[in-house]
Amino acid sequence: MMVAEERRAPAGVATTGDEAGVEVAVRIRGLGKHFGTGEQRVQALRSIDWDVFAGQLTMIVGPSGCGKTTLLSVIAGILDGDEGEVSIFGEPLDRMSDRARTRFRATNIGFVFQQYNLLPALTAAENAAIPLVIAGWRRDQAVRRASEVLASIGMGKKLANLPSQLSGGQMQRVAIARALVHEPRLLVCDEPTAALDHETGQTVMQLLRDAAVRPDRAVIVVTHDNRVFQFGERIAHMDDGRIVRLEQRAASQPSLSDFSPLL
Ligand SMILES: Nc1ncnc2c1ncn2[C@@H]1O[C@H](COP(=O)(O)OP(=O)(O)OP(=O)(O)O)[C@@H](O)[C@H]1O
Ligand SMILES: [Mg+2]
Repeated sequence: MMVAEERRAPAGVATTGDEAGVEVAVRIRGLGKHFGTGEQRVQALRSIDWDVFAGQLTMIVGPSGCGKTTLLSVIAGILDGDEGEVSIFGEPLDRMSDRARTRFRATNIGFVFQQYNLLPALTAAENAAIPLVIAGWRRDQAVRRASEVLASIGMGKKLANLPSQLSGGQMQRVAIARALVHEPRLLVCDEPTAALDHETGQTVMQLLRDAAVRPDRAVIVVTHDNRVFQFGERIAHMDDGRIVRLEQRAASQPSLSDFSPLL
C-alpha cells in the first residue's frame, strides 16, 4: 500500500512514483470530521489519506456539500478534525497547542474564504494589510505593500474603498491580496474565481500559480470553474467526504510569469 510505504519514508519527503524527492506540503492521514448529532449528524470527511506536494498548484473539485470547504478548513487549522493527522511542511498541526497553531498559521498559511470575510470598517488596502500588521509590520508600510499587491490585480483605484463600496469580484480580489501579502508557504483558496470575470479570473489564477511553483511553497484551490483547471498540476476529485480520484496533469501555464514581481 502506498500509505504504508510512505510512512517509512523520512518525514516530509515523498518516495513513491514520479514524485520522488518532492517535498510534501500537506500530509493527511486518517482524517475524519462530522458535524451535528443524531438525525442531524453529517459525516463531512471520511478517513482521508492524502499528500499535497510542494511546488505545485493542487485543485479540489466535487459536488456541493461533498466536504471541500471542511477539508480546506482543517488543512488551514481553522477547524479541528475528529480523528487523524494533518502536518504542514512536516509540522503536526493536530499536536500543537492553540497558541502555537495560531502563530504557525499567521506566518505560514494564507486562506481565501468562500465568503470573503473582509472587515467592514477597514478600507481595501487596510484589509489586505492585516497579515503584515499581525506579523509586526508598521501600519503605513503594511498598507503600502498591500496596496502594491492590490494594484497588481487591477485594484489600484479602489484602495480607499470600504468593502460595502466594492463589487463581489472586487471584494474577492481584496481577499486574495490579503492571503498573498505575507507570502505564506501554504495558500488555500475556496472558489477564488467564482465572482470574477474570465480575464480577472485568469490573472488571479496566474498569481496563485506563481505563488505555488516554488519548491518550498504550495497552493490548494477549491473550484467549480473548469476555465481554471489548466492552472493546476493535480486535481483531487471529492465525493461524499472522500477523495475518490487523483488526476495528474501537466499545467499548461509557464512556471513563473513576469507580471508578478511581488511574490
Ligand atoms: N458548521 C456546520 N454545521 C453543520 N453541518 C455542516 C457545517 N459545515 C458544513 N456542514 C455540512 O458538511 C457537509 C460538507 O460541507 P462543505 O461546506 O465542506 O461542502 P462543500 O463541498 O464545500 O460544498 P459547496 O461546494 O457547496 O461549498 C455538508 O453536508 C454541510 O451541510
Ligand atoms: Mg464550500
